[in-house]
Amino acid sequence: MSENYIKPEIKVARKRSNRPVRNIHFAFDEKYAKLGQGLTYIIETHGCQANEADSEQMVGLLRAMGFEEARAIDEADLIIINTCAVRETAESKVYGEIGRLKKYKRLNPNLVIAIGGCMPQEEVTVERILAKHRHVDIVFGTHNLYRLPELLHRVIVDKQRVIEVFSEEGEIVENLPTIRKNRYKAWVNIMFGCDEFCTYCIVPYTRGKERSRHPDAIVEEVSKLAAQGYMEVTLLGQNVNSYGLDDPELGCDFPELLTRLKKIPIPRIRFTTSHPKDFSDRLIDVLATGGNLMPYIHLPVQSGSDSILKAMNRKYSKAQYLELVKRIKTKIPEVSLTTDIIVGFPGETEADFEATMDLVEKSGFEGAYTFIYSKREGTPAAKFPDDVPHEVKKNRLDRLNSLVNQGYALGNKRFLDNVVDVLVEGYSKTDKLILSGYTPNNKLVNFPGPESLIGKIVPVKILQAKTWSLGGEVIHEQN
Ligand code: SAH
Ligand code: SF4
Ligand code: F3S
Repeated sequence: MSENYIKPEIKVARKRSNRPVRNIHFAFDEKYAKLGQGLTYIIETHGCQANEADSEQMVGLLRAMGFEEARAIDEADLIIINTCAVRETAESKVYGEIGRLKKYKRLNPNLVIAIGGCMPQEEVTVERILAKHRHVDIVFGTHNLYRLPELLHRVIVDKQRVIEVFSEEGEIVENLPTIRKNRYKAWVNIMFGCDEFCTYCIVPYTRGKERSRHPDAIVEEVSKLAAQGYMEVTLLGQNVNSYGLDDPELGCDFPELLTRLKKIPIPRIRFTTSHPKDFSDRLIDVLATGGNLMPYIHLPVQSGSDSILKAMNRKYSKAQYLELVKRIKTKIPEVSLTTDIIVGFPGETEADFEATMDLVEKSGFEGAYTFIYSKREGTPAAKFPDDVPHEVKKNRLDRLNSLVNQGYALGNKRFLDNVVDVLVEGYSKTDKLILSGYTPNNKLVNFPGPESLIGKIVPVKILQAKTWSLGGEVIHEQN
């Protein structure tokens, strides 16, 4: 049935047109309502929050089809891996996993194995699966998640092998059923795709063109979550600061969206990720009004060297970034900033790296995700000579990480003896008598307390500050 295969093309995925974005109002087709009856699924999710949110929609679709969650992977009738393509290490993990799944197929010949998410959007992935992993039944991408019921029908009923990956710029699909993993914290997509084209990054190819949801749809979703008792929402987009700019008819940019969402009685609003180049003074002013807008900003810098930033197509300089940090801290003094940094980008010299270290020292980051550059086929940087020896990259990463860890420790220390509000999520993973949760500044706090506090925001006095967490005690319990 190979003539039915729809394969991705990176050349097509790169294109951006003025074609208006199609809004699809999803309606579940009842003819699939019994397809999953008596069958179980497992979804394994890799990558960023966009994938976490997508997996929750896949669960929504599977439950609508009658599937139930499997207790263990070796009991599942359907295994979906939702993949990430951002670095080679992420992809190697998935290939290892695909290899391991072969044995389950021998135990259960009716097992359906599906690979979805960002990796299938790359043509190399699809070719490799076709050539080497015959036990994979479905390959689907980020643009056709909503077609999962039909794809499963083709495998389970029609006994086909399905490869369906679209490379068009993508639509906005509203009204997908969603079953959320966390009872208190919810992801809310405000936009999809990315048009930044940082030269190292595969995301603009795997996620399509930047497209913003209608503000009314976002307000409605957050209002519903608040009414259902959710305590926190995190607004998702690859660059939330450019929300609304792709479609002037929406009449709403990111500061305006936050102003509207702020009025909804949801205790906490967070967002990720902010590109420094679009961080306006208006946005800072809105965030400075506080309330349910949390004083925590993830602001990926990637490098502190002007020539590397230019080669990365980041559209700001070291001085402009530091100036932005200063403006943010002046208006929101209690803010916590974290960042992302890549070391060993093609052409990075010792002096470039030192500029990054200097920027980290001056910015006062309270955390950072640090990565060694990974070449992504199809991106502009893949053509740059990858000339930094691996040992040098590793050494730079180690030096950077020790500096970053000092930032984590200092960021925690400043809360010693303070009383902070903690949204209690449950018992700690390592100690079943200790509750844990996060502060407005996104600091992890562990403290003893009764189960009745789970799902509430409680004041905790901080008595210990470690590198990765805070410890303390509740000062008075809420009912
Ligand atoms: N849209 C977000 C992040 C997307 S990917 C943003 O712009 O901040 C998350 C992080 O992965 C990036 O911030 C970057 O630091 C890292 N990353 C992306 N591509 C990479 C690559 N090819 N090699 C190493 N790290 C990469
Ligand atoms: Fe990738 Fe840059 Fe877009 Fe972030 S802003 S997803 S790093 S291209
Ligand atoms: Fe990975 Fe795709 Fe997110 S490549 S980082 S899962 S957008």
